[in-house]
Amino acid sequence: MKVTLQGMKIRMSQKLCIIGLGFIGSEIIRNLDKFRKKIELSAVFDIDKKKMEEITAKYPKVRLMTSSSDFDDCDIVIEAAIQQVVKEIFNKIVKTEKIFIPMSIGAFITDEKIYSNYIALEKAKRQLIKFPSGAIGGFDAIHSIKQIGIISAKLTTTKPPIVFREQRYIKENKINLSENEKTQVFKGNAKEAAKAFPRSINVGARLALATLGPEETSVEVYSDPFIKKNIHEIEIQSEVGVYRFSFQNNPSPTNPKTSWLAALSIFDTLENRICEE
Ligand SMILES: NC(=O)c1ccc[n+]([C@@H]2O[C@H](COP(=O)([O-])OP(=O)(O)OC[C@H]3O[C@@H](n4cnc5c(N)ncnc54)[C@H](O)[C@@H]3O)[C@@H](O)[C@H]2O)c1
Repeated sequence: MKVTLQGMKIRMSQKLCIIGLGFIGSEIIRNLDKFRKKIELSAVFDIDKKKMEEITAKYPKVRLMTSSSDFDDCDIVIEAAIQQVVKEIFNKIVKTEKIFIPMSIGAFITDEKIYSNYIALEKAKRQLIKFPSGAIGGFDAIHSIKQIGIISAKLTTTKPPIVFREQRYIKENKINLSENEKTQVFKGNAKEAAKAFPRSINVGARLALATLGPEETSVEVYSDPFIKKNIHEIEIQSEVGVYRFSFQNNPSPTNPKTSWLAALSIFDTLENRICEE
């Protein structure tokens, strides 16, 4: 936030709230010192009361929010919880001038209203929603290619079976997660993928929003017992050329579904797209 005092521009520190205190939320808090004087942790929310109490013990000045929508006194809102939280707060937050950094990006393509509102905001160039690159990257090249056009965009995600074992889609479709061979567990578009795997294929949504949209972006998902990494491979065909990006991510220390890189991408968003503005 900038204020002007006798012609001088003074940047005041921006108040941050974090919803979701799991791996990503905790990682952000642990590293916020990097943004000292620019960003200050002001409020947090998690449905897990123990995690909220831990924050109070460590940071007594941080306010405990009463719900995911209790962010009126903040300038930046980071969501690092679940898709449902994005659905709960989207309508309120887009009516404000706050910067919104969502991690559960799948919500933007599984919920028709959020998707159409988001597209309208983009067209109006009211860009207060900042998507971190998450567990993938290459968006600078993708944006350049998009000026000419994208013919096809495909994400192939391969993760160890442990990531999928308890997921509803796997159980409902009685998919056998072999311990002896790589198994295809999903083939469809990004929208179907974000519905099938709400906690682990956010990258498909991120790619879809940057390329051909939820229905035209292809996603394949594999379970591979011989790997320990979360691998995302992107292929983009265009008149400009053919592009392949490969991301071999180590899972985060506390949540095997989440790649470590995903949390780090938030710092890049805060540093380059907020502090410099
Ligand atoms: N965009 C990407 O590339 C990307 C990559 C990895 C993870 N993610 C997504 O980011 C989100 C956070 O990931 P994580 O690894 O920190 O997850 P996590 O499971 O470690 O933590 C999630 C936290 O949210 C809390 N929570 C759950 N429901 C809530 C609610 N209704 N209100 C408030 N808090 C609630 C949980 O108690 C938990 O503390 C997930 O949705 C995940 O799928 C996105």
